[in-house]
Amino acid sequence: MGAQTEVKPIKIKDIVKGATPIVCLTAYTAPMAKLLDPYVDILLVGDSLGMVVYGFESTRHVTLDMMIAHGAAVVRASSHALVVVDMPFGSYEVSNEQALLNAARIMKETGCAAVKFEGGSVMASTVKYLAQHQIPVMGHIGLMPQSVKTSKGYKIQGRDDLQAQQVMADAKAIAEAGAFALVIEGTIEPVARAITSSITIPTIGIGASPACDGQVLVIDDVLGIFTEFTPRFIKRYAELAPIIQEAVQNYAADVRARRFPGPEHCFGTK
Ligand code: KIV
Repeated sequence: MGAQTEVKPIKIKDIVKGATPIVCLTAYTAPMAKLLDPYVDILLVGDSLGMVVYGFESTRHVTLDMMIAHGAAVVRASSHALVVVDMPFGSYEVSNEQALLNAARIMKETGCAAVKFEGGSVMASTVKYLAQHQIPVMGHIGLMPQSVKTSKGYKIQGRDDLQAQQVMADAKAIAEAGAFALVIEGTIEPVARAITSSITIPTIGIGASPACDGQVLVIDDVLGIFTEFTPRFIKRYAELAPIIQEAVQNYAADVRARRFPGPEHCFGTK
């Protein structure tokens, strides 16, 4: 699964526990999805786009329309990876019927393969209801960003026994309800390891150790498209921020010095 040359579209049935970890990255736009698609198993249109793309303080400001617009763009630009779209805060918690209506709208209007939403045991009946209506669901437990008002409230989960038991119970409930995969975010290694070995669906970790069956990161973090502090669980594979800044400085200097556009960029010149 996930070889660079493979063009076969990945299906839900391919997302299973295996010897090779599952590779997932977020994507929010068509050009980025096109670049990432051949190399990953899952493209997640995460509601992290609220902070990464729109500059909000938290993911709570993200709307269903935003997720649908970005989800459709990512689906249009991908042919290999499984595309999963996040359900935003307020679009699934009221009732199972609300969740089904909005999940169906996301799937119909984007063409994505599955939806993801946050929540442990309390959301298990919703996962089950959607699965019974042929909506594949990826769960999301541990640190759940929609439950904290700003990124400053993010806390690693599972540090005390009570919390560890709660995260374990959440994982079990979501897996038994019929989710096809489970994101574990910001959770200590022993808990992530215990969950991964005790449930049959694959776990995909972010800040949850290599014990998970796969890994996910936010693409802007991987590429270093920002200048702020990098949390410990992120590995930057590129430093694009200074490259972008230098390119823009050069462009601005060329325009101001009338070096751009040159004759080669103009029409109707000899
Ligand atoms: O919104 C998101 O990008 C996510 C991942 C970080 C798992 O939920």
